[in-house]
Amino acid sequence: MNTMTIAIDGPAAAGKSTVAKKVAEKLSIIYVDTGAMYRALTWKAIQENVTLEDETALTELLKNTELKLVQSPMGQKVVLNGDDVSEAIRTNEVTNQVSIVAKHKSVREEMVKRQQELVEEQGVVMDGRDIGTHVLPNADVKIFMIASVEERAERRHKENKQKGYESNLEEIKSDIRKRDEIDSNRKTAPLVKAEDAIEVDTTSLSIEEVVDKIIAIVKEKQ
Ligand code: C5P
Repeated sequence: MNTMTIAIDGPAAAGKSTVAKKVAEKLSIIYVDTGAMYRALTWKAIQENVTLEDETALTELLKNTELKLVQSPMGQKVVLNGDDVSEAIRTNEVTNQVSIVAKHKSVREEMVKRQQELVEEQGVVMDGRDIGTHVLPNADVKIFMIASVEERAERRHKENKQKGYESNLEEIKSDIRKRDEIDSNRKTAPLVKAEDAIEVDTTSLSIEEVVDKIIAIVKEKQ
């Protein structure tokens, strides 16, 4: 059994989840999208009219919420109290507010605990902002994925148009910048490259090239 633990961190829309999913498939290990967990809590808080600055209320809400990441042939499903919220957590409403929810210390403590429980002695590729620094500080491989804001926004814009969604490139750029700014400057577990992480700049690379690069790094460690 492959028990390699791989942490992939980096700024918003750097392609982490697409790459992480493929790396996990190639290595036959599970993939955990931690951003989806913060998004799910944000979605729930909006539904319940919980103020996103209210740390105590959010933590209480999280403690009473069952969150499951279910692997399915169609990809990973996010199930909240039995409901599939995989699509609902990707709306702009959630995307543009999730960083506020993710700032809170006690919310993060509960999330990290749940994320660590998900791994339990098995191989995993986990992506997020604090995986190499806090969730899996002893990960076998740590990757810090970066790309220019322009490139990240262009990719997201293209993806939106392909899906038939309305999309504004300048708005995407500004939203990405805002989210990175909050994630990088929060007090608890900010977005930062772990000292022992390997930086991979994906600006001029295809998804397959990034996947191959990470697999090569993993093989070297095995
Ligand atoms: O990865 P994704 O873009 O879906 O993450 C959404 C947001 O969740 C991030 O912008 C960040 O605020 C938060 N997040 C976090 N720590 C993680 C994963 C995500 O703070 N490990």
